[in-house]
Amino acid sequence: MDTWLLQKEGFNVQDAAVDGSRFLCANGYMGLRGVPEEASSALFPAVTLAGVYDQNGDRWREPVNAPNCLYIRADFNGLPLSVEKTQVQAHRTALDYRYGIYSRETDFGEVRVSSRRYVSMASAHLLADEYRLVFFRDGELTLQAGISTDIWDINGPHLFDFRHSEGETLVTTCLTGQNRIAVAAAQCVRTDFEAPESLRKDETGIFRVFRRIVKKDETLTLWVFSAVYTSIDDPAPADAAQRCCAQAMAAGFDACLQAHKDAWEDIWARSEVMMEGNEEAALALHASQYHLNCVAPRHAQNMSIPARGLSGQTYKGAVFWDSEIFFFPMFVYTQPVIARSLLRYRIETLQGALKKAAEYGYRGAFYAWESQEGGIEGCTNFNVVDVFTHRPVRTYFRDKQIHISADITYALRSYWEITGDRSLLMEGGARVILECARFYLSRANARVDSDEVDFADVIGPDEYHERVTNNAFTNMMILHCMESALMLRDIFADREAWFDRLLKEMDYENDWALLDRVRGRVRQSRKQDGVIEQFDGYFELEDCSMETVRSRLRDPREYWGGDHGVAGTTQIIKQADVIALMALLPERFTDDQVAVNWDYYEPRTEHGSSLSACMYALTACRTGKTDKAWELFMKTAGIDVTGGGKQWAGEIYIGGTHPASNGGAWMIAALGFAGLRIKNGGLTLVPRLPRQIDRLSFPVTVNGQDYRVEVARDGGRIRQL
Ligand code: BGC
Repeated sequence: MDTWLLQKEGFNVQDAAVDGSRFLCANGYMGLRGVPEEASSALFPAVTLAGVYDQNGDRWREPVNAPNCLYIRADFNGLPLSVEKTQVQAHRTALDYRYGIYSRETDFGEVRVSSRRYVSMASAHLLADEYRLVFFRDGELTLQAGISTDIWDINGPHLFDFRHSEGETLVTTCLTGQNRIAVAAAQCVRTDFEAPESLRKDETGIFRVFRRIVKKDETLTLWVFSAVYTSIDDPAPADAAQRCCAQAMAAGFDACLQAHKDAWEDIWARSEVMMEGNEEAALALHASQYHLNCVAPRHAQNMSIPARGLSGQTYKGAVFWDSEIFFFPMFVYTQPVIARSLLRYRIETLQGALKKAAEYGYRGAFYAWESQEGGIEGCTNFNVVDVFTHRPVRTYFRDKQIHISADITYALRSYWEITGDRSLLMEGGARVILECARFYLSRANARVDSDEVDFADVIGPDEYHERVTNNAFTNMMILHCMESALMLRDIFADREAWFDRLLKEMDYENDWALLDRVRGRVRQSRKQDGVIEQFDGYFELEDCSMETVRSRLRDPREYWGGDHGVAGTTQIIKQADVIALMALLPERFTDDQVAVNWDYYEPRTEHGSSLSACMYALTACRTGKTDKAWELFMKTAGIDVTGGGKQWAGEIYIGGTHPASNGGAWMIAALGFAGLRIKNGGLTLVPRLPRQIDRLSFPVTVNGQDYRVEVARDGGRIRQL
């Protein structure tokens, strides 16, 4: 078995949505869905751009899909060489995870079409495709290669005022509707054959058309180089795209491919987790690491990653807590510069968070639940559509999921502790921590009859229970945020001029006094036989089985949460909540506490979010439940191999890749199975190798120093490199 290769035989239009994600190529700047070159918008082709958003009317704001600039279609003797239009004899799709190369081979009987393509890791704006035709009889070929403006959008259209220009390079420019951002796509083509060429330019795009009489056994190859730029990247995006294509064309397909592969080699040298003794697991792990690595911002220093990566417009292309809690760990331990970028994005969107807090009447920083460019809140008040009435359902994620600010400060502190680099704190990170702590001070509810401080009317990670009070996860993460602020004071105040200046600027004197008062008073959750109550009153909810709740559904796509959701009145939860807390703050809980809570909550957890299984797996490792951890690891790591995960929330499509699971797989392997920890500034291991594998080894960078961690049956070791 090739543990770097995903393969699929056959073509089925029903699988197009899932396969487009499973076979994704991306480089952090853009994502190219894994569909054949000739795909119409019915197969959901997309070149999704990172960080470029648009809103059409009052529909949801979402990322922009660029014109499809690797579009190729061919006809042979009038037969469309298209998987959609012609019955194929055979069709194989593959994705090479090591180098992010998508390939397809389609047997149309008289002709075989094969191609391999990639989105360059070496040059952020470049895409390239090698497209080959082999003929099994004489005939006439028409081949079209160009830039298609038949763009698939969920809430579009987003691009207008298309202009095309031809020459050596075809160029299409257009503008987004809302902010008039210019998007330019360019394409150059080289062929190994001579053919009369004409141009087709219409409302579907601009295309070179080649016509040729071919002979049996002839092989023709076309190399396509495309580039995408926007006016955010360059004031003259069309020129830049044209230049990029021309340079690639001059260098040639092989040289560009080599540079791309070298860039991937470098990524793997820094991050690959090698798992020996189980090929299925090794493949799943390669898949997860590929999918997370390929969406990482490498072309910018201040960008984060959307919850569905660059696999399309699902979840509005927004940045969630997924970034800090699920993606961040792999990056901070393997490629800290990317971890830094994720956090710089938060530092630079602080204004948005201050504005959001003010909108709700609070001080400090309340980060967007679904953050778009500049920290714009993409989450609407009606985030789910009811499958029965087709009406939008009022959801409270936007206003009540306040743990988001603490998740960000948690990652900021971890970055500092793991990299030893405090420059991020000095460059705005400290301000973020202080503003978040300030937000919680103003959001806290003091009781008049006791000393305790509540956080009422919130939503924890388990979104099926909305508007609850004292969610254990939220309260403890808030406490961690407040303690982080106080820690900054202890370390830097009256010692470091930059910090004293910051405090003065922020007029923080009164906030220190409040933090000192509140920190010891944040309400601790009730416990029953050692089980931490997820929120006040949770234990009083109906305690029924998952099957009972599932049996109450009247539509498989029905939303389990919200006002009428089947889970809301029960103890059934969507995803890890108390257990997520135990995974994030392990030192605050004993092994016994983790075990008791795990046993209570796991059977009550739907794992209805791809963020859930990894938290249970991590905590299962700690309590020695390695078989259970293994099962959850395979579920987590395999999600984008099998195309698992929910596709619908009510009537909203939520499919795509699952970077949170991808990051979760790294966490389970490194922090769970190997048990990597930082203790008193040093690295330690508590190996929990599952019996299903023989060995695990991976690189990490801590405090600027590179290490290799190796875990085998006889124990683990850490080698300094
Ligand atoms: C989960 C959230 C998550 C979001 C994006 C939701 O289904 O409940 O925790 O942040 O998906 O992945």
